Amino acid sequence: MTILVTGGAGFIGSNFVLDCLSESDETIINLDQLTYAGNLQNLASLEGDVRHIFVRGDIGDSALVAGLLMKYQPRAIVNFAAESHVDRSIHGPGEFIQTNIVGTFNLLEAVRAYWGALDTTAKTGFRFLHVSTDEVYGSLGKTDPAFTETHRYEPNSPYSASKAASDHLVRAYHHTYGLPVLTTNCSNNYGPYHFPEKLIPLMIVNAQAGKPLPVYGDGQQIRDWLYVKDHCSAIRRVLEAGQLGEVYNIGGWNEKPNLDIVHTVCALLDELKPRADGRPYKEQIAYVTDRPGHDRRYAIDAHKIERQLGWKPMETFETGIRKTVQWYLDNPQWVANVQSGGYRDWVAKQYGTGPKA
Ligand code: NAD
Ligand code: TYD
Repeated sequence: MTILVTGGAGFIGSNFVLDCLSESDETIINLDQLTYAGNLQNLASLEGDVRHIFVRGDIGDSALVAGLLMKYQPRAIVNFAAESHVDRSIHGPGEFIQTNIVGTFNLLEAVRAYWGALDTTAKTGFRFLHVSTDEVYGSLGKTDPAFTETHRYEPNSPYSASKAASDHLVRAYHHTYGLPVLTTNCSNNYGPYHFPEKLIPLMIVNAQAGKPLPVYGDGQQIRDWLYVKDHCSAIRRVLEAGQLGEVYNIGGWNEKPNLDIVHTVCALLDELKPRADGRPYKEQIAYVTDRPGHDRRYAIDAHKIERQLGWKPMETFETGIRKTVQWYLDNPQWVANVQSGGYRDWVAKQYGTGPKA
């Protein structure tokens, strides 16, 4: 049996590939364009493993995707490939439209043709799982109930709008063509292999480098954090038992203001790798200009996946964040390698002369 994973060299995709191959003998075809966010070092432990076949390419390349589907006859596709960073989408939305909308459309077209030609048994068993985000639901007020699967779509950033569009396309391919799709909308992930442009890894990396820890606005924006391995187990569970055409929200019941996250990271670093001068890392916190259109609060109601599929997260925030900080301390070479020229250019563009690149 074979699964096609797209975006499997990125943060969540690579964790997914590693977890799957540690638990099953299924072959994984990993299609990834290797943008700045894709990193084959994440998959270095799979070198020589015949169950992992890496293909560099674009999900929007219909001929390439059609050829892979014909050749490998996957029983399922898990679509992680996307441009994923809100701040980058503010600076330049074009690539988000191209990959997240046009790319997903082209992928769906290739999959529709492949699936339509399968024999009845293969057709019935086939699944297309689309990995999406809670950001499509927009921003919550302080006391609003958490997002359920029926919450209205109100995306506010070019990133979330492009993901919302892809979710709608996936839904339409089910309703119109009967394509056997599943969609997951997950909250903010954290864990190993997280690119240090996102909040948690950026704080860990900057703190150790003696750089400022940039907190947008008042730091009271709330995100609902989930350890990446829990997201991966939820995706596997939905793939295994999810009902066709259904949407599953995935979250860790872990709402926290950004400033609390930064304080937690600082406290862990104080314990695990104290500053040479003995001062606390939180002294490096620097309040910077807020993100335009910054969503105030996200929160996931994960009752449906728990009730219907029996899935629950394994990690609490306390256990997950400790593992994460420890992973970054144990993998300085990974961090050094991803801090390429391109990364330095991004930091200069986003933070100007603030946190020095
Ligand atoms: P990421 O940016 O770390 O990785 C994205 C991967 O997709 C990279 O390996 C990149 O090279 C690849 N890619 C980009 N464009 C491509 C294209 N056109 N063709 C093929 N590959 C391409 O992202 P991530 O954080 O791992 O997120 C993965 C998915 O999960 C995304 O769809 C994202 O919207 C969704 N998601 C992310 C989070 C989160 O907190 N990170 C939360 C919920 C949902
Ligand atoms: P991020 O990791 O970019 O995820 P998202 O925007 O998809 O939720 O940011 C998480 C939160 O942290 C978000 O509210 C923005 C904030 N943030 C900062 O305050 N400073 C930073 O340097 C970054 C990257 C994010």
